[in-house]
Amino acid sequence: MRQDHPGHMPKIIGHRGACGHAPENTLVSIAHAAELGAQAVEFDATITQDGVAIVLHDYDVDRCSDGSGPVALKTFDEIKRLDAGSWFDKRFAGARIPTLHDALKLVADKGLRLNLELKPTLGWEEPTARIIAKVVQDVWPLDLPLLVSSMSPQALDTFHDRLPGVALGLITCAIPQNWHLRMRQHHCVALHCHHDFVTHDLVQEVHATGARLHVYTVNDDAKAKALFAMGVDAVFTDFPDRLAHHHDI
Ligand code: G3P
Ligand code: MG
Repeated sequence: MRQDHPGHMPKIIGHRGACGHAPENTLVSIAHAAELGAQAVEFDATITQDGVAIVLHDYDVDRCSDGSGPVALKTFDEIKRLDAGSWFDKRFAGARIPTLHDALKLVADKGLRLNLELKPTLGWEEPTARIIAKVVQDVWPLDLPLLVSSMSPQALDTFHDRLPGVALGLITCAIPQNWHLRMRQHHCVALHCHHDFVTHDLVQEVHATGARLHVYTVNDDAKAKALFAMGVDAVFTDFPDRLAHHHDI
C-alpha cells in the first residue's frame, strides 16, 4: 500500500481516540489510544456559540458531559466547566471537552496520524469549517500528513477553499450511487462508509478511481479480518488494542 497517497491512513484508526476505553473525544482518550499502540486517531470537531473550535461529536453536550443543551448555544467559558469524564466512568471525573488547539497539539506530540472530522451543527457548516481551518493552519505542522473528513459537502468545500493542500475524505453511511462524482466535486481522496455497505466490488471500484476506502466502526476482530481481506484500507475502531495485530498482516 503506497504510504505517500495523500489520504493514506494506518490500517487501525482509534475512533474518537480510544472511546471503548476512555471518554470519547477527550485528551485522555487520545493519549490512551497512543498507549494502546494506535498509530492513528480520529476525532470530531465543532464550534461553540462564540466561535471556539472544540472536540465533540454531538450537537449537544447531554450525552458526553454533565451539562445539557446545544453546543451552538454555549460559550467556550461554559463548555470548559463541564465534566466530560464522569458519564463514562468515575475514574475519569474532571476530564474536559478539549479545544481543537489542545487536541491537535497532543496528536502531533504523540506522533499519531490524524483523521479530523468536521462535525458542524446543521446550519453552521461554513463558520465551523472556516474556524477549524484557521486552527489547523495555526497549530498543525502542515508538513505532517492530515486527513480531514466530513458528511457535510459544504463544510468540505469551505475547508478546501481555506487549506487546499489538505487531503479530504467524504463520509457516507450507505454508498450513494454517484459517490465518485461527489468525491470529485468535493476534492475527496478517501471514502468513509459504514461496514454494512462494503462489498468486494465497491473496494475495487474505489481503488480504481485512485481513492482510499476507510470503514467505521469495527470492533470485532473477525469483521476486521474480512474487511481487510476485501481490500479495505483502514478501519475505525473503539478498541485499537483488539485490532492492533492487523498492522503487521
Ligand atoms: O469517520 C468515521 C466515523 O467517525 C463517522 O461516524 O458518527 O462516529 O463520527 P461518527
Ligand atoms: Mg467521527
